Amino acid sequence: ARLSVRDALGSQNASGERVKVQGWVRSVRSQKEVLFLHVNDGSSLESLQIVADSNFDNRELTFGSSVEVLGQLVQSPSKRQNVELKAEKIEVIGNCDAKAFPIKYKEKHPLEYMRQYPHLRCRTNALGSILRVRSEATAAIHSFFKNSGFVHIHTPIITSNDCEGAGELFQVEPSSKIKLPEENFFNVPAFLTVSGQLHLEVMSGAFTQVFTFGPTFRAENSQSRRHLAEFYMVEAEISFVESLQDLMQIMEGLFKTTTMTVLSNCPEDVELCHKFIAPGYKDRLEHMLKNNFLIISYTEAIEILQRASQNFTFTPEWGVDLQTEHEKYLVKHCGDIPVFVINYPLALKPFYMRDNEDGPQHTVAAVDLLVPGVGELFGGSLREERYHFLKQQLARSGLTEAYQWYLDLRRFGSVPHGGFGMGFERYLQCILGVENIKDVIPFPRFTHSCLL
Ligand code: 4AD
Ligand code: MG
Repeated sequence: ARLSVRDALGSQNASGERVKVQGWVRSVRSQKEVLFLHVNDGSSLESLQIVADSNFDNRELTFGSSVEVLGQLVQSPSKRQNVELKAEKIEVIGNCDAKAFPIKYKEKHPLEYMRQYPHLRCRTNALGSILRVRSEATAAIHSFFKNSGFVHIHTPIITSNDCEGAGELFQVEPSSKIKLPEENFFNVPAFLTVSGQLHLEVMSGAFTQVFTFGPTFRAENSQSRRHLAEFYMVEAEISFVESLQDLMQIMEGLFKTTTMTVLSNCPEDVELCHKFIAPGYKDRLEHMLKNNFLIISYTEAIEILQRASQNFTFTPEWGVDLQTEHEKYLVKHCGDIPVFVINYPLALKPFYMRDNEDGPQHTVAAVDLLVPGVGELFGGSLREERYHFLKQQLARSGLTEAYQWYLDLRRFGSVPHGGFGMGFERYLQCILGVENIKDVIPFPRFTHSCLL
């Protein structure tokens, strides 16, 4: 029977079953009487030890080559693993010129170096662990929502609206080779989505609690360590929600439950990231998990920042957006516990946020979650469900015509509702301690770079 390395390593009481294992060679060590081989197939961080006769011809068995091994699974005499495979037959399927191979045996390659090889870096321990955690976290997020009674919605990737109103859109057009009878394929300008929120709001008006988890696109001209042009966003929208408190509870629950699930499903992978990528990070993560997240208002945040103005290149005033340096300071100030910042000035936020009607300050019911190392991880708000308020907001933003359908939602059975979006790559950075967002997505896209 064919076994994955993970299943082979996990088999209890191995007693000579004949199995087949396939994978890539991670090490070859030839001793007087035996030849030791380690084979990895990506199913786990650990590799399977293969023991072969020393007179086996191993000239083609180089680091990186692909192999198929037939043999007997037995208890290992060594303390380093429970089982090993006593090889009867080893076949090299694809050889690998170790000299030309950019990954070198026994070398610890910096993440930055491996970024040059998006087609090969998944074969290193670090990327292997990060991408397995990414896969586990994806599944954990889906179960969190399923267990909380949310319906999963596939929101469109091509859309005619700019949800955030920031104009950071990629326009979609057919290639110039396509001959069209009309000038424009969709008859309207179409873009890659920046957020599925507006489509989710439609759906929360029927299913009450909905979520989506897919790629989003922003033409942000940024080379920062936390921005991508294509990133994954987890978005939720909930009807009959009347306070930011209720929303924040779900956000905190999503973060903590997902992280606990990941920690219990792939502890070795998380440990590798914490140990080799971000030493000391394990304690910081535990600190985040065991404390209640904090809440401050935007106004309080500005006061805190103004008292610490000597720390910044630029000190914010009320009415100005927080910069990365401010977000990082606020988290430090809060003892490295994630902190919700709520009630932002209306003028800083998109048209859909709910007016707090609080006099001259004029804020909206917005919430951002700031976390250690990353800064903004979530953005969310209560939505303006009152027809006349929304109509005014749309007019103010010059969107009245395009958003008639959105206004309709406030005419036909409108309810108080709210939602949020969490940047999935920033989430992975936050739990693993990975500095650069380009290292937590298989194929990063950013300004001046679209490799493969
Ligand atoms: O704060 P944002 O722009 O919020 C929205 O798009 C809302 N419509 C979401 C909603 O309420 N349904 O984006 C949400 C999160 C940010 O907090 C950040 O974590 C992440 O998405 N994000 C990015 N991640 C990587 N690269 C980028 N360029 C990002 N832009 C935003
Ligand atoms: Mg935001």
